[in-house]
Amino acid sequence: MTYQILQEEHRPQLKALLVQAFSVPQAFVDPWIDRSGLPDWRGVTDGERLQSCLVLVPGGQWYNGRVVSMLGLAGVAVSAVDRSRGAGKRLMTGFLEEAFEQGTALSILYGSATGFYRSVGYERAGSVFSAELKIREIPRMTSSVEIRELDWQRDADELKRFVQDHANHHGALVRETYLWSRVRQLQTIDASGFGLYGEGGLEGYFYVVEKAGTLDERALQVTDFLFATPKAVDGFLRYLYSQRSLCSTATLFTVPNSSVLLRLPDRWNYKLSLHEHWMLRIVHLKNALESRGYPVGVSGQMSLSVSDPVLSENSGSWLLEIDNGRATLRPHSQGKVDISITSLAALYSGFLTAAELVRGGYLRGADAQDCDFLTRAFGPEAKLTELF
Ligand SMILES: CC(C)(COP(=O)(O)OP(=O)(O)OC[C@H]1O[C@@H](n2cnc3c(N)ncnc32)[C@H](O)[C@@H]1OP(=O)(O)O)[C@@H](O)C(=O)NCCC(=O)NCCS
Repeated sequence: MTYQILQEEHRPQLKALLVQAFSVPQAFVDPWIDRSGLPDWRGVTDGERLQSCLVLVPGGQWYNGRVVSMLGLAGVAVSAVDRSRGAGKRLMTGFLEEAFEQGTALSILYGSATGFYRSVGYERAGSVFSAELKIREIPRMTSSVEIRELDWQRDADELKRFVQDHANHHGALVRETYLWSRVRQLQTIDASGFGLYGEGGLEGYFYVVEKAGTLDERALQVTDFLFATPKAVDGFLRYLYSQRSLCSTATLFTVPNSSVLLRLPDRWNYKLSLHEHWMLRIVHLKNALESRGYPVGVSGQMSLSVSDPVLSENSGSWLLEIDNGRATLRPHSQGKVDISITSLAALYSGFLTAAELVRGGYLRGADAQDCDFLTRAFGPEAKLTELF
């Protein structure tokens, strides 16, 4: 089985594999492949036949004020006849070795087969919620922002600058081409974009798709949004209010304490449910720990014994020293606490505290003081709600 970058000659097999694995329409597959281009697709072949594939989603992720290099993964699929014969694992280990060689610190994916991804070192690292807003229960809002339709050709640079300036919270993604293209199209349907402008310029924006529904019970799907001011949130809610004659719901992916949900007066104005967990893989341990930020005021050191079943370079004893928001990681003679690269991912994102990992049997050798240090260093929980 050979792991490789896919070429134009693989396109027909790649298309067939994606349609089969994800039940997506034929018409969706070429735009998906071309979202980033074939050079970002990887596959495993037996010489002639394409057995498995994935696409790289380049980007970065913010951790406590610093961007950490990250490669997202999407479109992971194994052809029906090759499943359970190692083609998936070969694909993932090929990718991890390639990413490690490049020094990429992290990898993120949304995986339905949790056990499969855990077997190569990914762990659940955060939760994405789906909020279904009941449009007819949204109160009439006033907001001084003006709503204008966005035109990607004209407004792309302004939007990119806006996201760069405002989407830098702990856990936010740094977007590159694939992610920008994804929010503007839901499968084959183009999303409409709206900018919310105040006196000083852009204060927020959103992209939305109208999904089919019966006559006056249509549903809106918000594919992307960012509101930098309270007025922008109100402007968005005012837009939804104005859709109430035909649309009854609007769904967006968010966190329970998002500014949009906080603005709604009552709990029954929306329905909140867990949509998916994002999974994180620490690819290059040293780069991942040294390139992120840490809360100022947390200082100390900890010797860790890390086990990595795929990337042996990460395995071994390390001394982690944290001071003034930065960390260094050096090889060490002996680790005090034992943790796998998988569980370290959940600690790294703040999804699990050190005490929770101890209770689950995933962190060994840590006393209460160690747990307190690790939890303060890696918390709070990183919030990521962008799907890909
Ligand atoms: C999920 C999928 C990618 C796994 O690939 P595969 O080639 O069948 O898996 P492998 O044979 O390489 O198995 C690798 C390991 O993962 C485990 N595994 C495989 N599928 C699994 C699943 N669905 N759930 C949990 N563990 C799984 C195997 O037991 C094996 O563990 P081991 O090394 O300890 O024995 C493949 O079945 C597939 O393409 N499914 C349809 C599309 C899909 O679900 N894609 C993922 C969307 S996020």
